[in-house]
Amino acid sequence: MSLLRRERPEIKTPEQISLMRRSGLLLSRVHDMLADHIRPGVTTGELDRLAEEMIRDEGALPNFKGYQGYPATVCISVNEVIVHGIPGAQVLQEGDLVSIDGGCIVEGWHSDAARTHVVGEFRSEADRHLVEVTREALWQGIVALASARRVGEIGAAIEDHVDAEALGELCHLEEFGGHGIGTAMHQAPDVMNFRTRDRGPRIVPGMCLAIEPMLVQGPAEWEMLADDWTVRATGGGRAAHVEHSTAVTEQGIVVLTAADGGASELAARGVAAAPDPLGA
Ligand code: MF3
Ligand code: CO
Repeated sequence: MSLLRRERPEIKTPEQISLMRRSGLLLSRVHDMLADHIRPGVTTGELDRLAEEMIRDEGALPNFKGYQGYPATVCISVNEVIVHGIPGAQVLQEGDLVSIDGGCIVEGWHSDAARTHVVGEFRSEADRHLVEVTREALWQGIVALASARRVGEIGAAIEDHVDAEALGELCHLEEFGGHGIGTAMHQAPDVMNFRTRDRGPRIVPGMCLAIEPMLVQGPAEWEMLADDWTVRATGGGRAAHVEHSTAVTEQGIVVLTAADGGASELAARGVAAAPDPLGA
């Protein structure tokens, strides 16, 4: 989701970041559960039902459902659908690329995260490359956050990674990107997936940002379907979309929606994650 968000970022206390972490940890477990159910023959509607059931069973609330009239708990975007696909009767098939985006609310605190899966084996090297570059673009954006002075450095890192690995092959969209997150799912600031002239607000402890690169094979051309949600590539390529909610603390950054707070992925890229806000 991307709008021009000009209000001030919401700065969280360490106690509030602990609640954000609880929300993010639950969401990470929901994504793990969904990953276990992805197979040929399952419908996207069944995955949505499982997500809603688990979130409510854990005493949390879905935040997508009812958001500006959105009708489901998760967005499931298959193949050429880039983002905001509505779950329903679609049956997953071998080789499909399936991006699941979801979020929840724990004690008023929102989380938002997306993963792209392949059903079975990749259909092509191009699909494998799309998913790998999109995932690494997310981690490069998160790594940038760890040392950045301004929010705009995240998008610059994402763009640089995509250009280095897939210039002319994979494209970002200018219309959709990440956002602040906290007592609402979408807050200031915008977190773009590319370098902008505006360097964005200063990064300070207590900021929580959802970073969400999405990439398309081929031109960044898309249409909105008649449901007013589904964003579909029209250039013939497929898409991937991955997202984590992150927090900046006095001790460094935490990936709120990663099971280990981002520790292992960050360490692999030479960055130490902050201690888990839950002391886990
Ligand atoms: N991660 C998505 C975004 O920030 C969440 C969309 S929520 C929906 O765009 F309810 F609008 F689908
Ligand atoms: Co988001």
